[in-house]
Amino acid sequence: MTNFFYPLVENPYSDADIKEAIKVLKSKQLTISSRTKNFEKYFTKKFNSKFSVMVNSGSSANLLALQCLINPYRKNRLKPGDEVIIPTLCWSTSLWPIIQSGLTPIFIDINQNTLNIDENEIIKKISKKTKAILLVHVLGNSCDMDKILKIKKKYNLILIEDTCESIGSRFNKKYLGTFGEFSSFSFYSSHQISSGEGGMICCKNKEDYDIILSLRSHGWSRGTSFESKIYKKNKNLDKKFIFFNSGYNLRPTEISAAIGHNQLKKLNQFIKIRKINRLKIIQRIKNNFNLKNKIDFFYENKNVNPSWFGIPIKILKKIKEKKKILYNLEKNGVETRPIISGNFAKQPASIKYKLSLKRKFPMTDKVYNSSFFIGLPTKKITDKYLNKLVKAFEKSI
Ligand SMILES: Cc1ncc(COP(=O)(O)O)c(C=O)c1O
Repeated sequence: MTNFFYPLVENPYSDADIKEAIKVLKSKQLTISSRTKNFEKYFTKKFNSKFSVMVNSGSSANLLALQCLINPYRKNRLKPGDEVIIPTLCWSTSLWPIIQSGLTPIFIDINQNTLNIDENEIIKKISKKTKAILLVHVLGNSCDMDKILKIKKKYNLILIEDTCESIGSRFNKKYLGTFGEFSSFSFYSSHQISSGEGGMICCKNKEDYDIILSLRSHGWSRGTSFESKIYKKNKNLDKKFIFFNSGYNLRPTEISAAIGHNQLKKLNQFIKIRKINRLKIIQRIKNNFNLKNKIDFFYENKNVNPSWFGIPIKILKKIKEKKKILYNLEKNGVETRPIISGNFAKQPASIKYKLSLKRKFPMTDKVYNSSFFIGLPTKKITDKYLNKLVKAFEKSI
């Protein structure tokens, strides 16, 4: 492994996080129990959401949202072939749950300044089959949620918010992930907070909540309001072991719940320090004679109070120089990443599955060709460290 002095992620776990994990190990209760429940309660309260269910990843949260939407126990369920709008700048498991649920994804290009879906392009692609919008809030930023809510209302669409990259960001003071019927969060180690692996799905009504609980755990009725309803009709069943739904096992461990809970308590502090660090880095680079005309930055959208975890950067030089610049940065100790996975319609998996082969997404291409991101530490950076970072940029670009 290359030794980066400026890695994408510093080790995110504090001694206090590890202590919480050790407490779980010592209790010998590792499978889902009170730690997970407590974290779910804390999460619900913190974000003022309605129902929160912890799962083993953000990908699983997306899968459960889409699977809930087609579930036969849902009153207004989606049917095979119904269309779901999704931005081309997305993660693989923002997209695949749509297809795995028998629905059809309709890609929409992004706004090159916000990195999020271009709200004005959505209406052009709405058809009788359009039933939902799946937003991806990219790297702590968001599109104009007022415009999205207007479209949602006008066309009676369900809204799913993939908030895996934006926990703690707000639009008009309201947390991202609380606008839609469903939202997903990820606690993977490179995100704002981490539980090793882990995720959360939030939903707005009890019917969906009960379906999600059963899907998370083998299609089991335990802990859901279906338990007594179904037992009443099937008294010959063992009440404790009723499987009334299809299902997976997407449960988290108590260890990740304990770490995630402890990390969430520190989210506000992480957001604050990251904002300070980001501004320091941007100011220094913008004021640097050798760099100011070579790279630029992305800023939060209007009305967004962002929770960053990385610094997206655009290269102002010729597109073909990007590869060389990234190679140089990594050689000089700065780890880099593409902005999510670029234009997902161009990934080999999308081509294999023949998704949107003919359509063009010029803004997503432009961002992919000219941009990348670097990490953003949660500890205050020193002037010495900042100087080293700026030097690495000067040597690389
Ligand atoms: C936008 C987005 N959605 C979903 C995921 C999946 O989250 P996880 O890694 O927890 O499965 C990621 C992962 O990085 C992501 O960036």
